Amino acid sequence: MNIRENVALKAYNTFGIAAQARHFVAVTELDQLQRILELEAYPKKSILGGGSNILLTQDVEALVIHIDLKGIRVVEEDKNEVVVEVMAGENWHELVLWSLEKGYGGLENLSLIPGNIGAAPIQNIGAYGVELKDVFVRCTAVQRDTGKPVIFDREACAFGYRDSIFKQSAKDAYIITAVHLRLTKHNHKRNIAYGAIEAELKKNEIIHPTPRDIANAVIALRQRKLPDPKTLGNSGSFFKNPILSKMHFEAFIHAHPQAPHYKVDEEHVKVPAGWLIEQCGFKGKRFGAVGVYEKQALVLVNHGAANGGEVLKVVHRIQHEVHQKFGIALQPEVHIM
Ligand code: EPU
Repeated sequence: MNIRENVALKAYNTFGIAAQARHFVAVTELDQLQRILELEAYPKKSILGGGSNILLTQDVEALVIHIDLKGIRVVEEDKNEVVVEVMAGENWHELVLWSLEKGYGGLENLSLIPGNIGAAPIQNIGAYGVELKDVFVRCTAVQRDTGKPVIFDREACAFGYRDSIFKQSAKDAYIITAVHLRLTKHNHKRNIAYGAIEAELKKNEIIHPTPRDIANAVIALRQRKLPDPKTLGNSGSFFKNPILSKMHFEAFIHAHPQAPHYKVDEEHVKVPAGWLIEQCGFKGKRFGAVGVYEKQALVLVNHGAANGGEVLKVVHRIQHEVHQKFGIALQPEVHIM
């Protein structure tokens, strides 16, 4: 294994933040990972996947382990469905493209989400009315302290909105090594209720959409609204959409009757953070090299040489002003390191 010193992380995080790893190793085999976890010479270890949901605010004084495990294969199959095993280092969107190529359904709404498979269960990635949990069967992981392999089924993952056990009681305790997903071969379930998808399909005069048609609609929508990290550094939505209790929501909507909102359940309503941020006048604004994306206020962008501290300042300013104006505390969705 090749452990390197003082390695630049700019190319390993989609925000394009220039920070360094004190030590760095890329892991391509499972047994290699287990051996690295046992190394006592590096007591502090930090896990890095696709780097699409992190904000680096300083150099990482640890051994950064970049999970680069590869492989996609069908492990179960019957007349109607397959279960695929995808190794943690595979790129998410490439998996989506692979599944479409094979004619499988289930991932189309999750097209073009940046990042790798290993991070997908941590925040239960989601877009356009579908979340990872809808196709998730189980994931395999290793315990960080012991290197012991463990399996988490869907229930054990305790998935919620951009949330799972890996952000709660099991935080930093496991490294996800592979994910098993159940996909359909026929009779695909179509999730097109999300208004923007329906309109996009209609525009293209598609009445009975295939998974590929839905993927194409999602890709078009995302490309219109979200910046491509290859050309403009970002980590997708920076904040979670706040979920208000019914009582809190009643007071909020009374004061701001024009606010978009979505019912979560009988007791909770979700309000788009992008709208709250836009109402505070941040959309399209620049603070040095840090920007609030002009087409989607929920996305912070790096116009060039922003460092993590500068991004964090803008984050705090947004949180402060949204709280002043609406009495709502925005929580970051991105992992701040
Ligand atoms: N809105 C504004 N101004 C903005 C942005 C949004 O007013 O600048 C309003 C729009 O009017 C719309 C509502 O907010 O009514 C929702 O906007 P959008 O459909 O763009 O989705 P979102 O709630 O802002 C969420 C996810 C995205 C995902 C989209 C589509 C979160 C934190 N974000 O964004 O996920 O792609 O829905 O499903 O839940 C990500 O997690 O990185 C991500 C991009």
